[in-house]
This record gives sequence, structure tokens and C-alpha cells, in this order.
Amino acid sequence: LNKPEQGDAALPLRISFLTLFPESIRPFLDSSILKRAQAADKVSFNILSIRDFAQDRHKTVDHYPYGGGEGQVLRVDVLHRAWKAARSGSQNTKTVFLSPQGKRFDQEKARELSREKHLILVCGHYEGVDERFIDLCADEELSIGDYVLTGGEVAACVVADAITRLVPGVVGNPDSLSEDSLEKGLLKHPQYTRPPEYEGLKVPEVLLSGNHGKIERWRQEQRLERTQNKRPDLWRKKWE
Ligand SMILES: C[S@@+](CC[C@H](N)C(=O)[O-])C[C@H]1O[C@@H](n2cnc3c(N)ncnc32)[C@H](O)[C@@H]1O
Repeated sequence: LNKPEQGDAALPLRISFLTLFPESIRPFLDSSILKRAQAADKVSFNILSIRDFAQDRHKTVDHYPYGGGEGQVLRVDVLHRAWKAARSGSQNTKTVFLSPQGKRFDQEKARELSREKHLILVCGHYEGVDERFIDLCADEELSIGDYVLTGGEVAACVVADAITRLVPGVVGNPDSLSEDSLEKGLLKHPQYTRPPEYEGLKVPEVLLSGNHGKIERWRQEQRLERTQNKRPDLWRKKWE
């Protein structure tokens, strides 16, 4: 579990997770498209258990905060050892600490990170981590939204998922990526499949017409309309 894999220079992307709860991450990575991406050697995931880097008899990873206050803080020395193990053997690494204090993770950031060689995603827990770990090791802090999670594991999985599907070859048809919501600052058009009518709701006539020019015009109108209505913030960013 804790041995960074060697000799994977040909892999486009490697993602290492530092976590206290490897068991909460593994099943997610071993399902669906992420599982296939690993099998096809498009990405490799390495999970390091922070507790394995504790050095005392009780495997202590945290302690009370200096100055008092609620909860426990993850120790800088334990985290630093885990981080060095994750990094060993890699030349180009980028370390992201998942934090509600970070910059908001978005599609643009996912695209940027999908071009990295080796990403280390660090999951905090309890009250967070000793600030010196962030100073020493983190290249950036990312948040997945303005709410506080119990730990960084879900956030790291969100980031890994969004990045992996952008690695060339992971999602079969590249067109399906460029049409995704947010890729061009617009939301995707509505989609329908069989049956053509359900509980009185009909699939828009134009989609059954076979006229591709007309379908594309309708879809573009829908993309514009729904972005304006559902996400006025995106709309303003795109046009103002
Ligand atoms: C309970 S939180 C600690 C929050 C910390 N006391 C604070 O106010 O910044 C535990 C860990 O969950 C993760 N986390 C919580 N919310 C997150 C979010 N919105 N995005 C990314 N990571 C988050 C971070 O790794 C954090 O260290």
C-alpha cells in the first residue's frame, strides 16, 4: 500500500493520496471509469496511510493545538515523512492540500492539473493540519466548496475524478469532453433518450427530425438560455 510505484515515467499522470483513511478512498478509485483508466495505464493511483509514518508505539498522528482550542491537529513531522515517501522517485510533483480555506476548485483548474506528471493530494482531518506542513510542502490549497467536510478524502476523490477524465484516452470520445458543461463557459444542452414520450412529457420534436443543422442550432440556443437562467454568475463571467 505505501510503496510509491517506480518506473512509471511513461504514465501520463500519477496521483498520490496522503490520508488517515485509505479504506475510504480505494473503493472509489476502483470503480467505473477510474478503474478502467488504471487498467489502461492512463493513470496510476497510490494511497499512503499517514498513520504508517508515525514513529511512536501508539502510532500517534495528532495532538492538541498549541494555545488551546477545540479538537486535534495533524502533526507536521508525521505528515512530512509521509509526503517525502510519496514524492520519492518523482522529479516533477505538485502538492495540493485540500482545505475549505483553499481557492475554489473548478473545471479550469482540473484541466491545468491534468497536465501534471505527479500530483500529491493531502487530506486533512480533525481540526486540520499543523500550518508548517502547508508552508513546507503544499504548492497550493484547493477547496471543493464553501462548506466544511469532516476530512479531505471526499474532496481528494472529487479532484482526482475531475482530473482523470480529462487525461487523453480516458473518456473515449474527446468531443464528449469539449461539449461538457463549463468547458466553454456554458452549461450543456438538455439531453433525452428513449422512450420518446413518458408520463405525457415529449422529447422536443427537433431532436427527432434528423436535421443536424437545426438540432445544433436548437442545442446552442438551449446552452445559452440555460446558462443565463441557471448560472447567471457564469453568464456574466463569459459575456461581461
Ligand atoms: C473539519 S475540516 C478542518 C477545518 C478547519 N478547522 C478550518 O476551519 O479550516 C478537516 C479537513 O477536511 C478537509 N476539508 C474540509 N472541508 C473541505 C472543503 N470544502 N474542501 C476541501 N477540503 C475540505 C480539509 O483537508 C480539512 O483539513
